[in-house]
Amino acid sequence: MVLSGHMTKNMVATRCLTVMMQVLLKQQYFLLFFFFFVRFVSLCLALVQLQHKAITLTRDEIQTAVSHTDLDKMWQRDLKPLLVTRYPSSEGSQAVQNHIKATIGSLGAGWEVTEDKFRAQTPYGPLPFTNLIATLNPSAKRRLVLACHFDSKYYPPQWHGREFLGATDSAVPCAMLLELARALDEELKAQKNSSSKLTLQLIFFDGEEALFHWGPNDSLYGSRHLAQKMASTPHPAGATDTNQLHGIDLFVLLDLLGAPSPHFGNQFASTTTWLSKLQNIEKRLHSMNHLLDHPSSVQYFWPDRSVGIIEDDHLPFLRRGVRVLHLIPSPFPSVWHTFHDDEQNLDRSAIQNLNKIFQVFVLEYLNTRPVVPSDTSSTSEPLTQEAP
Ligand SMILES: *[C@@H]1O[C@H](CO)[C@@H](O)[C@H](O)[C@H]1NC(C)=O
Ligand SMILES: *[C@@H]1O[C@H](CO)[C@@H](O)[C@H](O)[C@H]1NC(C)=O
Ligand SMILES: [Zn+2]
Repeated sequence: MVLSGHMTKNMVATRCLTVMMQVLLKQQYFLLFFFFFVRFVSLCLALVQLQHKAITLTRDEIQTAVSHTDLDKMWQRDLKPLLVTRYPSSEGSQAVQNHIKATIGSLGAGWEVTEDKFRAQTPYGPLPFTNLIATLNPSAKRRLVLACHFDSKYYPPQWHGREFLGATDSAVPCAMLLELARALDEELKAQKNSSSKLTLQLIFFDGEEALFHWGPNDSLYGSRHLAQKMASTPHPAGATDTNQLHGIDLFVLLDLLGAPSPHFGNQFASTTTWLSKLQNIEKRLHSMNHLLDHPSSVQYFWPDRSVGIIEDDHLPFLRRGVRVLHLIPSPFPSVWHTFHDDEQNLDRSAIQNLNKIFQVFVLEYLNTRPVVPSDTSSTSEPLTQEAP
């Protein structure tokens, strides 16, 4: 039954293809043929992305990977410079942009950093905005994207004397991306050199916050602009059939991170696999005692718990068909949009744990194994000493 069913389908499909080719090859159907070909190319890319398999690092490789991340370095080099008032057009915004560009520019892997500068109408009149985009290998066809927003929410002058620093919103997520690029610099350099079709892209959005009242015209200024721009930019260069959005395998958005005990629920069935992968990494790092203040093997990632869609920078991408993993805790941190969202209320253990989990995730997604120093691998397993 099943077999003959398949054969019938195959025969129909073959006949259908033959007829289609005969029709399409006539001159007047050239455009139609072109249209099918275009769909075919972007469909093939989508299939490759859907079937992407991550690797699983060995315990020695995980040991090596997490030994490179350093919370104190991240705090001093990456986080402190971000903890300033940095709403669009402010002096702090410019300083933070310079800091992000200088930090990524100093790394050995050789990132390309581009700016997406534009002006947009806001409740306070037209204002300048700048998204920053760092791409490890711009010519690679496929991209794993990690994103955060670097702007802080604007509080008008009646709040005189109080400064909103947005530590979790989103200085910490942006600092995490900078620390990831620094800690994995060697691995990313080798990955870039491997002529893989897959690369890593970091996006730092401006203007996520509403300037006056959250609404479709007053929020997500940066992501709305960049998603539209990417949709109209051919990728790879010169492509007629695919744009930069087609190149995105997975768009991972980090937001509101740095408070104690984050819980990440599942918003999108299409990316459950990747949320499960994060849970699996959490379990493995827990079993290796790499996570601090982490009593049970699963504390953070809950692919089985569905949560409602939260409006954020992923929306302009999601609406254009990009697969999204939204790493925002439910519930939000208790300090959210209060003047207590500052350095003092950050949880160092949670930040360090998430850094390790995200870094292993990126290596496994990119199929990149860290080079284990030979002395480390020999101490983890009792080896018989060879005679000299
Ligand atoms: C880059 O790749 C080439 C050849 O594929 C290799 O000889 C070289 O050592 C690699 N460099 C790095 C930094 O991995
Ligand atoms: C947003 O702007 C568009 C175009 O200017 C306008 O048509 C629409 O009513 C506005 N929406 C809201 C909620 O203000
Ligand atoms: Zn916010």
